[in-house]
Amino acid sequence: MLKEIKLEEINNYKDSISLFKSHGIALATSNEGKTNGLTIGWGGLGVLWRKPCATIYIHKTRFSKGIFDNSEYFSINFFEGHEEQLDYFGKVSGRDEDKIANSKLEVEVDNAPYFKDAKLVIICKKMGQTDFDLDRVYEDNIISWYNESGVHTIYLGEIVKVLENK
Ligand SMILES: Cc1cc2nc3c(=O)[nH]c(=O)nc-3n(C[C@H](O)[C@H](O)[C@H](O)COP(=O)(O)O)c2cc1C
Repeated sequence: MLKEIKLEEINNYKDSISLFKSHGIALATSNEGKTNGLTIGWGGLGVLWRKPCATIYIHKTRFSKGIFDNSEYFSINFFEGHEEQLDYFGKVSGRDEDKIANSKLEVEVDNAPYFKDAKLVIICKKMGQTDFDLDRVYEDNIISWYNESGVHTIYLGEIVKVLENK
């Protein structure tokens, strides 16, 4: 069962890089009756404007982007197992299917929807967002990819609650 833990207890997961690399991760948010989740691989935890902060990146082609642009809160859900559902959330678009219903994962809401089966859940309140400025990206392969398909939006969320399945 998920229980609230102190922010510092995230340190039991070593560091942000290990946390993101060693779990399957899904984001979830909702706005105006639309709820959606997507698998992510990129992100980090740190401090911004004196607040504990999580950073995530959503590509402009994702159905989720429209919902994230307009929602106030989102959740970052770190899973151990559940590969099938994470694969589904990473392949299928919420434009075509109600992914959360089809995944059969149980969802609760604490400002943002989150998954009850996740090992760790971080609830974030959006502090800001910005798109990558292509003139300021210095990786050639990323520039050509972004030229073809568009950039990611960077979302910055204040960490307001952390829940853990013990
Ligand atoms: C392992 C994995 C990691 C992913 N990481 C990201 C990510 O960090 N940002 C992103 O925008 N899409 C990422 N994706 C792709 C989205 O999950 C995928 O395009 C999804 O279908 C989008 O769903 P939506 O259209 O319902 O938003 C990842 C997919 C997988 C399988």
